Amino acid sequence: MFEISSAKMPFFHLAISLLSVIGSVTGAKVSISQVSSVVSLATSSFAPAVTYAGPTGSASSVSAKSSTTKVSPQVVAATAAAAPYWLESITHQGISAFNSNPASYQVFRNVKSFGAKGDGVTDDTAAIQSAMSAGGRCAPGSCSSTTTTPAIVYFPAGTYIVSSSIIDYYYTQIIGNPNSMPVLKATPNFSGFGIIDGDRYGANGLQFGATNLFYRQIRNLIFDLTAIPASSSATGVHWPTAQATSLQNCVFKMSDAPGTQHQGLFIENGSGGFMNDLVFYGGLNGAVFGNQQFTVRNLTFYNAVTAIDQIWDWGWTYMGISINNCTTGLNMAGGGTTGQSVGSVTFLDSTFTNTKVAIVTAHNATSFPATAGSLILDNIVLSNTPVAVQGPQGTVLKGGSLTISGWGEGHEYTTNYQDKNFEGSITRFSRPSSLTNNGLYYARSKPQYQASPLSQFVSIRTAGAKGDGVTDDTAAINNALKSASSAGKIVFFDAGTYKITSTITIPPGSKVVGESYSVIMGAGSFFSSITSPQPIVAVGAAGQKGIVEWSDMIVSTQGATAGAILIQWNLASTSSSPSGMWDVHTRIGGFAGSNLQVAQCPTTPGSTAVNKNCIAAFASMYIAPSATCLYMENTWFWTADHDIEDPNETQITVYTGRGLYSASTSGTIWMVGTAVEHHALYQYQFVGTKNVFAGQIQTETAYWQPNPNASAVFPVVSSWNDPNFATSCVGVSGQCNMGWGLRVVNSNSILVYGAGLYSFFNNYSTTCSNSVVAPGNGGSCQTRIFSIEGTASNVDVYNLNTVGSTQMVTRDGKQVALYSDNVNVYPDTIAYYKSS
Ligand SMILES: *[C@@H]1O[C@H](CO)[C@@H](O)[C@H](O)[C@H]1NC(C)=O
Ligand SMILES: *[C@@H]1O[C@H](CO)[C@@H](O)[C@H](O)[C@H]1NC(C)=O
Ligand SMILES: *[C@@H]1O[C@H](CO)[C@@H](O)[C@H](O)[C@H]1NC(C)=O
Ligand SMILES: *[C@@H]1O[C@H](CO)[C@@H](O)[C@H](O)[C@H]1NC(C)=O
Ligand SMILES: *[C@@H]1O[C@H](CO)[C@@H](O)[C@H](O)[C@H]1NC(C)=O
Ligand SMILES: *[C@@H]1O[C@H](CO)[C@@H](O)[C@H](O)[C@H]1NC(C)=O
Ligand SMILES: *[C@@H]1O[C@H](CO)[C@@H](O)[C@H](O)[C@H]1NC(C)=O
Ligand SMILES: *[C@@H]1O[C@H](CO)[C@@H](O)[C@H](O)[C@H]1NC(C)=O
Repeated sequence: MFEISSAKMPFFHLAISLLSVIGSVTGAKVSISQVSSVVSLATSSFAPAVTYAGPTGSASSVSAKSSTTKVSPQVVAATAAAAPYWLESITHQGISAFNSNPASYQVFRNVKSFGAKGDGVTDDTAAIQSAMSAGGRCAPGSCSSTTTTPAIVYFPAGTYIVSSSIIDYYYTQIIGNPNSMPVLKATPNFSGFGIIDGDRYGANGLQFGATNLFYRQIRNLIFDLTAIPASSSATGVHWPTAQATSLQNCVFKMSDAPGTQHQGLFIENGSGGFMNDLVFYGGLNGAVFGNQQFTVRNLTFYNAVTAIDQIWDWGWTYMGISINNCTTGLNMAGGGTTGQSVGSVTFLDSTFTNTKVAIVTAHNATSFPATAGSLILDNIVLSNTPVAVQGPQGTVLKGGSLTISGWGEGHEYTTNYQDKNFEGSITRFSRPSSLTNNGLYYARSKPQYQASPLSQFVSIRTAGAKGDGVTDDTAAINNALKSASSAGKIVFFDAGTYKITSTITIPPGSKVVGESYSVIMGAGSFFSSITSPQPIVAVGAAGQKGIVEWSDMIVSTQGATAGAILIQWNLASTSSSPSGMWDVHTRIGGFAGSNLQVAQCPTTPGSTAVNKNCIAAFASMYIAPSATCLYMENTWFWTADHDIEDPNETQITVYTGRGLYSASTSGTIWMVGTAVEHHALYQYQFVGTKNVFAGQIQTETAYWQPNPNASAVFPVVSSWNDPNFATSCVGVSGQCNMGWGLRVVNSNSILVYGAGLYSFFNNYSTTCSNSVVAPGNGGSCQTRIFSIEGTASNVDVYNLNTVGSTQMVTRDGKQVALYSDNVNVYPDTIAYYKSS
């Protein structure tokens, strides 16, 4: 997370973003007060009666329906076979261990239990809102954040009529029955900013700080705006958001009548994030996206004026996007040539069909800032799309019906490490075949086990674990995991905090799923030795083969656990059946029960002493040499920089050694939408490995560094291939003894599709990254942030964005790229970097 104070936003960026944002928000507010007449839209149609080829080449057909039966094809099929869903039927025993009243606090809320009818007639707004708010939850406007009032707001099949915004609260998963996706249908005189308003506006702007909005999801819902007059501005979901959040499997239905003002998804701020499997019909904008960084996968757009309006960003990665019958695919020209607001975009494995202009950019050889509008296209299929890229003075890349193998614009560092401004074809990164499926990068959405009957599930609480944050659940969990994997059952971790005192092992064959981010919390002396680290959760053992699926959970620590490896992956899977980890996060400090909060671990900028009680982990995640073939999607490994329970979100100092380290000999790891923040020695480290897809990756250097410096707390362990700053920093000026964002040693085919490596602070001061006067200036928080050492072939990065680092790329200790040569909207950007 990082709170961008407006003082830190470049002036042009702020002005442009605010203009477009306030314009839209004002529009919504006008519609709240002025639109009151009932307008019938029974005749509007939005879906094309044609068949489009999706990015995978598989055809998906969509046929026109009357307005009351507008559903996507897979929904029609699912409805016909409407099945119950285990999450709805299972006994609800989840708790919030650190709530002030855990015995009565209800985590799972079925909206029908709160009076919603879902009958397509009754206005269910108030009932849904009471399901959201019951139990003294963290409401926008009165609460900034907390982990103690988590909830699932669950929708059984049905059509729910909504007349004003459902206001989303902190730490909420909004989930529909995936076997019969519920419809949230807006009334013709709907009022509010979004059928779901993920972050309500108050007198002082967004009520939740968008960069602190962690831990929430929306999935399996259809948002239907089609009853709202096309001429009224209307929004499906308003979703400013930060890390550890996701939107999955939703449909947005909007008017496609001429002049439509509808928009499906609206994001104007935050530090995200991930979304996947969304379908948009109609709209002025299918989606409006403004956020520091995001990874977006498998979005399909039909019949929008503009499918995606990218209002601002630092770096976004789009993969598996399908844009059909739109006027414009992606508009990233905000701010124009003299004040671009979009930093960079990486677009791969996507299709544009029957669309006038695929991409609009404001970038050219003299546009400002120089590297803004950095764009990479990699494997883009155009069908009947006459313009591929339109620049400020017309077409810069012709379209038609063809495949763009590689194309880009921005700065490149390739042969002889020359900085060169380019706009044109590039040689796209060479893809290891083990990472691909029919030439496309393999991807797999988070399993929801919708086809599995209730009898297939084992509740961890029923199996004897308590999840109360106090009881030692180690034995109960290990026994349950072992018997479930041999019986082929899925283990459901009812919401709770499961305190454990030695390693939990997930055996091969396991499927493990949490509820509202169930927490496994390692505590005690077993994890306390900085010289003898132990895993909290181990997946398989060295030499074991098989598959593990794991989703919707958090691994944490309590108190001084300097020897905790939060997740250690040992298991070997195969590239045709990889293991997977979806929405599994590490969270170290800064939450109730961690004993690593403001009271225990205040910041100490005025002192050089290290509080040993705040040394809380050896590493977030270790992918061991034996591990191979692991798909990771939407994971955030976070050492807390602030206390989530504190109303002022006060900063804290918690020390952890290492972020995500892969030493996998055979590699074949997908990291789709991952982030690692505030670990001492490095955020990502790859040593002696190969075949990695990583995009978008995002890091932040620990805010306390260099007081003390990166090597002060954690002694160098050579068997862990730790960086040794004492030797590598000799003779290097500036702040060299600072954690690496990304370190790659003796590795091949490490392919990064978008990176944001950020260093905002020195000793809790942002002076070193301050860009008010000259955007991108101030790269003095640390000397180096991205290191490539030893042999390296195909260690390549598209859209490398760095903040606060003097050198953007360091090869064997030598500077390759200097930040001031590559100034962007706030970060500094190299669009195309190849190590060899
Ligand atoms: C984004 O959020 C930050 C911090 O919450 C705030 O300072 C800034 O003004 C916001 N920007 C926009 C465009 O809303
Ligand atoms: C919206 O329309 C309904 C149905 O005509 C009506 O009952 C309701 O009062 C209207 N609400 C507003 C806020 O105008
Ligand atoms: C294309 O989209 C327009 C709306 O922009 C719609 O009127 C038209 O029917 C769509 N064409 C097809 C073939 O679906
Ligand atoms: C893309 O999303 C659709 C649902 O919108 C889903 O059916 C499909 O399996 C997804 N494809 C991939 C590759 O995730
Ligand atoms: C870039 O576009 C702007 C706006 O159209 C134009 O004034 C400028 O001359 C262009 N620069 C180049 C090098 O074409
Ligand atoms: C850290 O910042 C504080 C002010 O907040 C200052 O007193 C102290 O000297 C700084 N320490 C170092 C090592 O820069
Ligand atoms: C939060 O900050 C305000 C203003 O500085 C202060 O009055 C209040 O006591 C603080 N609250 C807490 C819980 O620290
Ligand atoms: C790093 O910190 C350690 C411990 O405070 C100190 O001994 C060492 O000199 C520091 N190194 C640098 C390069 O500042």
